[in-house]
Amino acid sequence: MESDLPPYHGSHFKHTTPPVPSWSFGDGVDSSEQGKKWLAGEESGWTGFDASKEAPGVFYKLLTSGIVPRPVAFVSSVSEAGIKNLAPFRWVRWSFLVTHNPPIISISCNVIAGKSKDTALNIKETKGFTVNIISESWIHNANACSIDAPPDVGEWPISGLTPADTVHVKAPRVKESAFSMECELFQAIDIVHPETGETTTTLILGRVKYIHVRNDVLTDKRDAVNPTQLRPILRLGDITYAVLGDGFRVPRPSWKDEGEGLQASGILSVHDGKL
Ligand SMILES: Cc1cc2nc3c(=O)[nH]c(=O)nc-3n(C[C@H](O)[C@H](O)[C@H](O)COP(=O)(O)O)c2cc1C
Repeated sequence: MESDLPPYHGSHFKHTTPPVPSWSFGDGVDSSEQGKKWLAGEESGWTGFDASKEAPGVFYKLLTSGIVPRPVAFVSSVSEAGIKNLAPFRWVRWSFLVTHNPPIISISCNVIAGKSKDTALNIKETKGFTVNIISESWIHNANACSIDAPPDVGEWPISGLTPADTVHVKAPRVKESAFSMECELFQAIDIVHPETGETTTTLILGRVKYIHVRNDVLTDKRDAVNPTQLRPILRLGDITYAVLGDGFRVPRPSWKDEGEGLQASGILSVHDGKL
């Protein structure tokens, strides 16, 4: 029962040590106590899901709950007739940063029984949109916009959010969002099912022309966003949202620094049945 749940207490993001600070090249997952516990899960066995045999709904549920957590792209778009639309699209089902040069993001709009999302239609019509990152304090406002309203109904009034001016695109940005991207349509790709011939999804690639960042979420160097301040909302499977937990930093190794030692150690020639 929802009423039995403890009250929301928000994210408490802080940096901790990494899970296995002593890890070094070649160590197996079983080199730590928590790694051993994790591997013990294998005793439960495995289940295979074959895309050629399962119904699409089975894959929907597996993919949306397995590829987690996902940020949510809150998209503002406008139709040729001037209807201003707002809708959430989970990022990485399938929307994400495709490349930073040129900066391109993607959002993926389902086509259900031949009917496209208004967002996809609007973007195709007017060629621009904004993506607004959602923070904890206004998740209800954003979630309300997932309502299946008819195309001639704009979601702004029910959202309780405030449209703000943009520089490059017709669609307004969400003033309450601390990080908004103005995007120009780069490409709209209809995904056609190879067997049924049905269009199931429109993949929108948007070129980011301009980013609005609220100063209080910028790091002291003002060159990146501080997650503690941004308090982004994440999406898990079904209707579950999440907030950030702890963070830790793990340096990326470089061959320049490590290569000689690795070669001398002999570890590269150890197969151990794992390769
Ligand atoms: C958190 C969240 C994520 C969503 N992600 C997607 C998505 O990736 N693709 C999609 O087609 N619909 C997604 N939806 C559903 C759309 O928001 C919903 O269908 C909305 O009514 C579309 O609005 P529109 O027709 O005005 O564009 C999501 C809904 C929520 C609440």
